[in-house]
Amino acid sequence: MPAPVDPTSTGAWARLRELADALEPDLRGWFAADPGRAERLAFTAADLRVDLSKGLLTDEILQTLLELADEVGLESRRDAMFRGEHINVTEDRAVLHTALRLPAEATLEVDGQDVVKDVHEVLQRVYRFADQVRSGEWTGITGQRIETVVNIGIGGSDLGPVMAYEALAPYRQPGLECRFISNIDPTDAAVTLEGLDPATTLFIVSSKTFGTLETLTNARLCRAWLLEGLRTAGALEGHDDAEAVARHFVAVSTALDKVADFGIDPENAFGFWDWVGGRYSMDSAIGTSLAVAIGPERFAEMLAGFHAMDEHFRSTPAEQNVPILMGLLNVWYTNFLDAQTHAVLPYAQLLHRFPAYLQQLTMESNGKGVRWDGTPVTTDTGEVWWGEPGTNGQHAFYQLIHQGTRVIPADFIAFAEPAYPLRDGATDVHELFLANFVAQTRALAFGKTAEEVREEGTAEELVPARVFTGNRPTASLLAPALTPSVLGQLIALYEHITFTQGAVWGIDSFDQWGVELGKQLAQEIAPLLAGGDTSDQDSSTRALIDYYRRHRR
Ligand code: F6P
Repeated sequence: MPAPVDPTSTGAWARLRELADALEPDLRGWFAADPGRAERLAFTAADLRVDLSKGLLTDEILQTLLELADEVGLESRRDAMFRGEHINVTEDRAVLHTALRLPAEATLEVDGQDVVKDVHEVLQRVYRFADQVRSGEWTGITGQRIETVVNIGIGGSDLGPVMAYEALAPYRQPGLECRFISNIDPTDAAVTLEGLDPATTLFIVSSKTFGTLETLTNARLCRAWLLEGLRTAGALEGHDDAEAVARHFVAVSTALDKVADFGIDPENAFGFWDWVGGRYSMDSAIGTSLAVAIGPERFAEMLAGFHAMDEHFRSTPAEQNVPILMGLLNVWYTNFLDAQTHAVLPYAQLLHRFPAYLQQLTMESNGKGVRWDGTPVTTDTGEVWWGEPGTNGQHAFYQLIHQGTRVIPADFIAFAEPAYPLRDGATDVHELFLANFVAQTRALAFGKTAEEVREEGTAEELVPARVFTGNRPTASLLAPALTPSVLGQLIALYEHITFTQGAVWGIDSFDQWGVELGKQLAQEIAPLLAGGDTSDQDSSTRALIDYYRRHRR
């Protein structure tokens, strides 16, 4: 891997600094003076229409950002990723989530192996399994059909499947529910299993490494719950435990040997590969629970959506390439306009877990302080990503976005077609909802001047509190409807935005060493909570452990 180019050493960076210093944001003036702004700064990527015109950018800023991309070699790094080069240097791995959605007729040889063939072999097995569960052909040990699928996994082995299960709720098969257990807080397993019948419940243990403490602990809890429940109901007579586990447990992992050690029949295990990062894995077999819920056909549509966005990212010239433009804009906001955070505000209740999903994707990828050659980064990196669906956010935190002192770039996402078209008398409620989407971005961009506040007859002393400065940057993302394909496109869009930012900063967006220390210390501390000697702990840690011991009955 060539050494990363220090972005701050480029001519474009220096120019961007000058542009930032001279910037006097004036979205009202910019729109008034330039009737073509909205059209020129709106882009199409697959089924998405992305309007960047309400961003804090001028043509010159955009042009200079594109020069920055050029100077740091963004496109050659992108091409290296698509080719399967080991761009994840700290783990010496290819980064090939894009291969998970290549069509079956494609070929891509990586490290001497046609990965597309491997991907489609596993996909076919996942699809067969999904069909068996959906049709009732796959039964539990008592011969009853499966009614609930419980995915056990955490991080990338949970957030993607949950988010997509929620997002695609209208496509689920009635009578077949998915639930998700992730947290090692025993409450999660206890509450999720409540009311379930072991005879009709199937568990999917999803773990790339099959070594994650949370997932393996929860998997053991679920296995014990299953066997105890079946035994109590007399359902195990004539069967041994292994038979029951084989009917009620399947696994998804890259570590199939560990799956077998756990007692899951390797026949019922779906593999994937070390070139799929955990947070980039929901379109691999990690999405098995989703494939069961929405069916193979819809799952394949979602993969096609991912692929359409991949193709856009791979082959569209940078000046029209939406993930590149959005990624570069995020660099602009972060490094030149001092934005610390980035809000994602879906005007779609079904996307209520999308911000949480993006938090792992973006922050685990770009929350790095060293570059891929081990040298320190030369500028700020990953923003804090957060969000909630509109309009709930409007009644909670939008005050700060509208009138606070910080720059908070926000992505607004909406769909023309509602998932559930309801009317309130004569009013189409979706229209009312989308009116909010449009109104918010307008208010954020153009604000309300003191003059306009006065025109409403406001008492002079109240005017300042009612002024909206405007010039608060947003991007508006619209699509016809939240279909499986559009969901795939949206996810891939953010994957490639994340890639673009990481490439500019020169970081390896595909490792996650920052989660290791806490995991390691938790293993050390567990015996101390149970009563071990705490004398060599720091005083704060000792006091926390003492408190726990005194209060635990
Ligand atoms: O939090 C670290 C991490 O490795 C994530 O990257 C990953 O998605 C999660 O843990 C779960 O890992 P696994 O799928 O191996 O259980």
